[in-house]
Amino acid sequence: MAGAQAVLIFILAFAQLCASGNPGVKVRLTKTGIEFANKMAYGEIIHQIQTLSIPDQSGSEGPISYTLSNIKITKVAPPTSSISLVPTKNGVSWALKNLGISIHADWKVKYKNGIIPISTSGSVDVTVSGMDLVETASFSTDKSGRPSIASSGCSDSIGGVSMEFHGGIAFIINLFRPTIEHKIKDILQPKVCEEVVGVVNNNAEKALASIAVTIEVAKVFLVDYRLVGSPNITEEYVEVYDKGEVFWKANATEAPLSPKPLPAWKNNSRHVYIWGTEYTPQTFLYQAHTHGYLKYNVTEKDLPHDYESYLNTTCKLKCIGSIVPPIGIKYPNSTVQLGLQTSAVPTVTMSNNTLTVDVSALVTMWARTPNNALPFLATLAVNASFTVQPNVTNERLSGKITGHAFKLSVVKSAVGYLHPALYNTVIDGILDIVVIPKLNDVAAKGAQLPIVDGVHFNNTILLVQEGSLMIGTDLAYKPK
Ligand SMILES: *[C@@H]1O[C@H](CO)[C@@H](O)[C@H](O)[C@H]1NC(C)=O
Ligand SMILES: *[C@@H]1O[C@H](CO)[C@@H](O)[C@H](O)[C@H]1NC(C)=O
Ligand SMILES: *[C@@H]1O[C@H](CO)[C@@H](O)[C@H](O)[C@H]1NC(C)=O
Ligand SMILES: *[C@@H]1O[C@H](CO)[C@@H](O)[C@H](O)[C@H]1NC(C)=O
Ligand SMILES: *[C@@H]1O[C@H](CO)[C@@H](O)[C@H](O)[C@H]1NC(C)=O
Ligand SMILES: *[C@@H]1O[C@H](CO)[C@@H](O)[C@H](O)[C@H]1NC(C)=O
Ligand SMILES: *[C@@H]1O[C@H](CO)[C@@H](O)[C@H](O)[C@H]1NC(C)=O
Ligand SMILES: *[C@@H]1O[C@H](CO)[C@@H](O)[C@H](O)[C@H]1NC(C)=O
Ligand SMILES: *[C@@H]1O[C@H](CO)[C@@H](O)[C@H](O)[C@H]1NC(C)=O
Ligand SMILES: *[C@@H]1O[C@H](CO)[C@@H](O)[C@H](O)[C@H]1NC(C)=O
Repeated sequence: MAGAQAVLIFILAFAQLCASGNPGVKVRLTKTGIEFANKMAYGEIIHQIQTLSIPDQSGSEGPISYTLSNIKITKVAPPTSSISLVPTKNGVSWALKNLGISIHADWKVKYKNGIIPISTSGSVDVTVSGMDLVETASFSTDKSGRPSIASSGCSDSIGGVSMEFHGGIAFIINLFRPTIEHKIKDILQPKVCEEVVGVVNNNAEKALASIAVTIEVAKVFLVDYRLVGSPNITEEYVEVYDKGEVFWKANATEAPLSPKPLPAWKNNSRHVYIWGTEYTPQTFLYQAHTHGYLKYNVTEKDLPHDYESYLNTTCKLKCIGSIVPPIGIKYPNSTVQLGLQTSAVPTVTMSNNTLTVDVSALVTMWARTPNNALPFLATLAVNASFTVQPNVTNERLSGKITGHAFKLSVVKSAVGYLHPALYNTVIDGILDIVVIPKLNDVAAKGAQLPIVDGVHFNNTILLVQEGSLMIGTDLAYKPK
C-alpha cells in the first residue's frame, strides 16, 4: 500500500513543481518514466508486505472461541505489477497480479459443548494465493491550484486460501477450519481495497493538499507553482502545467507579461521532460527591477586579493586613478565606489542553446576621500549583454557566463570631459573583476530541480530552443 502511495507521490512530486493561459513551466512524465516509478516502488511494496504487523485475532462461533496470536508473514510470492495511463479517467491505473502471502500463526481454541470445556492449541500455516488488485486514481486541480487526487475505482480478488494445521485435536480443528477460512477471505478481500482507497483519498490527497504552491526565494520573492490546468493524461504521458511566475512577496501583483506557447515535442524516449520558459526569469527580472532590487554598490571589499587596489585613485600599477588620470589627480589617496543600478527591466532571451541577458544600467561613481567625504565623479549609461551557458549536473540547473559585451555613454561628469574609452577600460575591469565572478557564483549554485530522495538523473539532455529551455532525463534510483 505504501508502495502505491510512493508511486503516486512520486508522480505528483512533479505536479507540485509546476503553478489560465500558457504555462510558464511544463513537466512531462512519460510512460517509460511511469514504468520506472512503478518498478522503483515495487520493491518497497514487497518489503512493506513482508514487514506488515497483524494484530492478534480472536472471536467465537457456536461452541468455539478462538485466538490467533504471533501472526507472522513468512513468505511473499511477488505479484506482477503494472501501471497504465487512463486518459478517459484522467488518471493512472495500478495493477497487481498473482500476489501470494504465507502466514504462520499460533492458535488456541476453547470448545464448549457440554459442561466441561475442551482447550486445544497448535500452529497453522495459511497461504493466500492468486490475489489480484486494480486501483485507478484520477487527477484534478483544487481551488488553490494544487493537484488533487481521488480514487475512482478499486477491485480485488483472492484466488484461494489453503491451511495446514499443526498440533491440536483433529475434530476441533475441523470445526474451526471453515471459520478461519471465511474470516481470511471475508476480511482480507474488502480490506485490501479499503486500505488502498484510503491511502489514495486520505494520505495521498492530504500530502498534495499540504504542498506549498508558492516558494519563497531570497526572502523577498515568491515563485508561484500553481497549476494552470488539470494534469493532462494521454496514452503516452502525464503532463502538468504550472504558472511558473515570480512575484514580489510584499506586493504580489501580476507582471504585465505572459508565457509564449511551448514548442511541440514528440520524442518521449526519456523518463521525464521539463520545460522552462523565458517567462519565469523574465517575471523575476521585472519584479526585481521594478522594486529596486537590482542595485549594488561596488566597493573595495568586493575586490579579490589579486586586484585589491583596483579602485584606488593612487597606485603604482593599475588602478582607476592611473586608468583615468584626472580622477587620480583630483582625489589622490582615495578609493572609488561604483553604484550599479538597472535603468530598465533586463531581458532574457532563450535561443540556439544559449541564454542571453541584456541589461541597461546606470553606473554612478564617487570617490571616498581620506577625510571620508564622498564627492561625485561621473554617471555612465551602460548596456551590457551576457551570454549564459546552462548546465544540468547532479539534479541542479546551473549556468555560467561565457561571454559579454557592452556599450557605454557618459551621462554626467564632474571631472571634465573624458574620452569614453577610459571609462570603457574601468567598466571592463569592474565586469571582469567583480560583476561576472559574483554573477557566476550565484549561477553556479543554480537551482535544485524537484526530485524525490534517492532519485538521480541519468542520460540528461539540455536543449535551449526559441523561448524555452528543455531538460530531458532518465531517472535512476539509488536508495541511501
Ligand atoms: C493534453 O495533451 C493533448 C495531447 O498532447 C493535447 O492535445 C491537449 O491540448 C492537452 N490538454 C491541455 C489541457 O493542455
Ligand atoms: C502594488 O503594486 C501595484 C502595481 O505595481 C501598485 O499599483 C500598488 O499601489 C502596490 N501596492 C502596494 C500596497 O504597494
Ligand atoms: C528520441 O531521442 C533519442 C535520444 O535522443 C533517439 O535515440 C531516438 O532516436 C529519438 N526517437 C525519435 C522517434 O526521434
Ligand atoms: C550606494 O551608495 C550611495 C552613496 O553612498 C547610497 O546613496 C546608496 O544608497 C547606496 N546604494 C546601495 C544599494 O547600497
Ligand atoms: C588602496 O587604498 C586603500 C584604502 O585607502 C589602502 O588601504 C591601500 O593601501 C591602497 N592600496 C595601494 C596599493 O595603494
Ligand atoms: C597620500 O598618501 C601618501 C602616503 O601616505 C602621502 O605621502 C601623501 O602626502 C598623500 N597625499 C595626499 C594628497 O594626501
Ligand atoms: C547558433 O550557435 C552556433 C554555435 O554557437 C552558431 O554557429 C550558429 O551560427 C548559431 N545560429 C544562429 C541561428 O544564431
Ligand atoms: C556541465 O557541468 C559539468 C560539471 O561542472 C561539466 O563537466 C560539463 O562539461 C558541463 N557541461 C557543459 C555543456 O557545459
Ligand atoms: C542602451 O539601450 C537603450 C535602449 O535600447 C538605448 O536607448 C541607449 O541608447 C543604449 N545606450 C548605449 C550606451 O548604448
Ligand atoms: C544510465 O543509463 C545507462 C544507459 O542507458 C545505463 O547503462 C546505466 O545503467 C544507467 N545508470 C543508472 C545508475 O541507472
